[in-house]
Amino acid sequence: MTKPIRLLGLILLVASCCYWSACDPAPTPPADDNDTIDIEAEIDSLMSQLTLEEKVRMIHASSAFTSGGVERLGIPELIMSDGPHGVRHEHGRDWIKDEGVRDSSTYLPVGTALAATWNPELGYAFGSVLGSEANYRQKDIILGPGLNIIRSPLNGRNFEYLTEDPYLNARMTVGYVKGVQDQGVAACAKHYVANNLEYEREMVNVEMSDRALREIYLPGFKAAVQEGGTYTVMAAYNKFRGDYCAHSEYLLDTILKMEYGFDGAVISDWNAVKNTMEAVNAGIDLEMGSDLPMLATGNVDYSKFHMGDTVVTLVNNGTVDEALIDKKVRRLLRTIFRVNAIGERAPGAYNTPEHQQVARDIADEAIVLLKNEGLLPLNEGETQSIAVVGANATRKHAGGGGSSQVKAYYEVTPLEGLQNLMGDKADISYAEGYVVEKGGGSNSDLIAAAVEQVTQADVAIYVGGYIHGYSDEWNDNAYDAEATDKPDMLLPFGQDELIEAVLAANPNTIIVLMGGGPVDMQRWQSQAKTIVQAWYPGMEGGNALADVLFGNVNPSGKLPMTFPVKLEDSPAHSLAVTGFESLEQDYTEGIFVGYRYFDSYEVEPAFAFGHGLSYTTFTYENIAVEKKDNTVVVSVNVTNSGDRDGAEVVQLYVNDNESALPRPAQELKAFQKVELTAGATERVEFTLGEDAFSYYDDTQGKWVLEHGTFTIKLGSSSRDIRQEGNIEW
Ligand code: BGC
Repeated sequence: MTKPIRLLGLILLVASCCYWSACDPAPTPPADDNDTIDIEAEIDSLMSQLTLEEKVRMIHASSAFTSGGVERLGIPELIMSDGPHGVRHEHGRDWIKDEGVRDSSTYLPVGTALAATWNPELGYAFGSVLGSEANYRQKDIILGPGLNIIRSPLNGRNFEYLTEDPYLNARMTVGYVKGVQDQGVAACAKHYVANNLEYEREMVNVEMSDRALREIYLPGFKAAVQEGGTYTVMAAYNKFRGDYCAHSEYLLDTILKMEYGFDGAVISDWNAVKNTMEAVNAGIDLEMGSDLPMLATGNVDYSKFHMGDTVVTLVNNGTVDEALIDKKVRRLLRTIFRVNAIGERAPGAYNTPEHQQVARDIADEAIVLLKNEGLLPLNEGETQSIAVVGANATRKHAGGGGSSQVKAYYEVTPLEGLQNLMGDKADISYAEGYVVEKGGGSNSDLIAAAVEQVTQADVAIYVGGYIHGYSDEWNDNAYDAEATDKPDMLLPFGQDELIEAVLAANPNTIIVLMGGGPVDMQRWQSQAKTIVQAWYPGMEGGNALADVLFGNVNPSGKLPMTFPVKLEDSPAHSLAVTGFESLEQDYTEGIFVGYRYFDSYEVEPAFAFGHGLSYTTFTYENIAVEKKDNTVVVSVNVTNSGDRDGAEVVQLYVNDNESALPRPAQELKAFQKVELTAGATERVEFTLGEDAFSYYDDTQGKWVLEHGTFTIKLGSSSRDIRQEGNIEW
């Protein structure tokens, strides 16, 4: 391929070696090619040389994961890879597996786990690993982060997303995007927007108020663009107010490009473009997909895509203005320059111990201690026999879940993690307890065997919950997986019965749950002394879990979503008028998503948003709330009042005492994770701008800040408020 355009590859090469972990001081990021060439001038020059046919070749896929390039002018293809929590294995240009390629990668904890750290620096570290490994594998775009709001516990893809809260969503997203892009690789904020369930995701139409759109569903994307500077955004499959997201001029042009100032490329979700004229007119810049019927024939003709040859014909016969195509091509060229697809790419690194350490650090901070009545931490010297029960103790999850699947270099299971930590210091037995099979119920023989094991042990550790489906095994990708939703919030495989039996046989049983979100625990929650949420914790998850259980790591994870007692308590199921299996999804709960609903409607959750226990205690004292110009400065003393070092997520919620439109009882507007040695005190300070007090008034079509009294609440969770203060605007 000719290369008429030269970038300073050497600078990029040197800079790419700057891998850093979350704890290191801020590094010098790799040099940005914007500094070295005038990208817009280069784009102008290329635009004047491109033929119509070449331009059209660039706006649709050239294989399952590449956009079209123009060899004559040295314009490369953009090479993409899923996914949100690990660079996906090679599957050939058209999904044919490339055997024998060294493509086992670092497998990071999933999105909900990352969000549970409430640590944006770890978001950055997470993104850095992905960017670095993408470079190593010659990829230009990481198809992540996934930042759809967690609206219902049933969405099969919640594990890939982050949270129910728009503020936490924005903070974690920005870290992730910057982490990826500082490596010279593009992030792709997906799925824009309102892809909040998987049921008929290519047909569902979502209706919601402008207020819900602005306050809940858009802030993460806005932050990805305006603070993270994401180079690409992926348009979702679903319709929004009757238009496919990939065809929506309102979403793509009016909001994303014009209002938010997004100047990168919008990529369609795979096969999300459905119509040539609508796509040409709207702000979708690149049609991606993999025509499945054509794939089956082994002969895919990408020029037949909606944004393929038809566009050439339509321009030539005067139906389409070529200027519309130019706008798309310019954005794609801008992306190509930004990611250094032209010139020398940074080498990146692959599966280094440093990357594995990031996976470990995130898992350590992601695990949430939901309940603990004296069982944890376990004592290494005193715990002589441990009965481990449950199929998730030995199950690996990396390969499941759909497009986010990762071929993990390794994956330490919970049982292995316990064995690694304890060696021969304890006698560790294992009983499967239940069988992972489609539609499987409880198995009395396995329950009896598990009961026998736990009866003889000092302590039992139950590891169950959901699983990541394996599409090869089960057509429906069961449970936590793309393209399917859960039928209910109940534990699969008859686990309730098993847990009840195990708890009855040995009350010193620790319940560890894996999965992307909550399960209905009503049958045994009150009997269980200790419950731990471990998500899908990545390749180092088993080691991290063992460290948390034995107190080598003091847990600091906090729930990024409310865990309801039962499904019907969740607003998408109690307030929304359309059933979940309806092609018309009307989000009638509006802004009352997650804790905004539970707190305003006084519904008791099983475990509240922001909840997570520690082995130490924190006290909050001396709140000060002060207005300084157009900001409010809030400060508080936080003391580690226990006898172990630990980290606390200090959460700041705002309540508007009186407003013209109904507002939630409280909204998260700031947080800080502080590490405190035992006995130490830190004054934690927050500065709030006007946006922390405003709401979107859809009767006026703008954000408004009403005068009046606001209460600032500081706490350890949304339901554990420790200090309050008022401020007048
Ligand atoms: C998913 C996207 C993914 C794409 C490519 C689609 O089915 O919705 O999230 O990036 O496939 O694998």
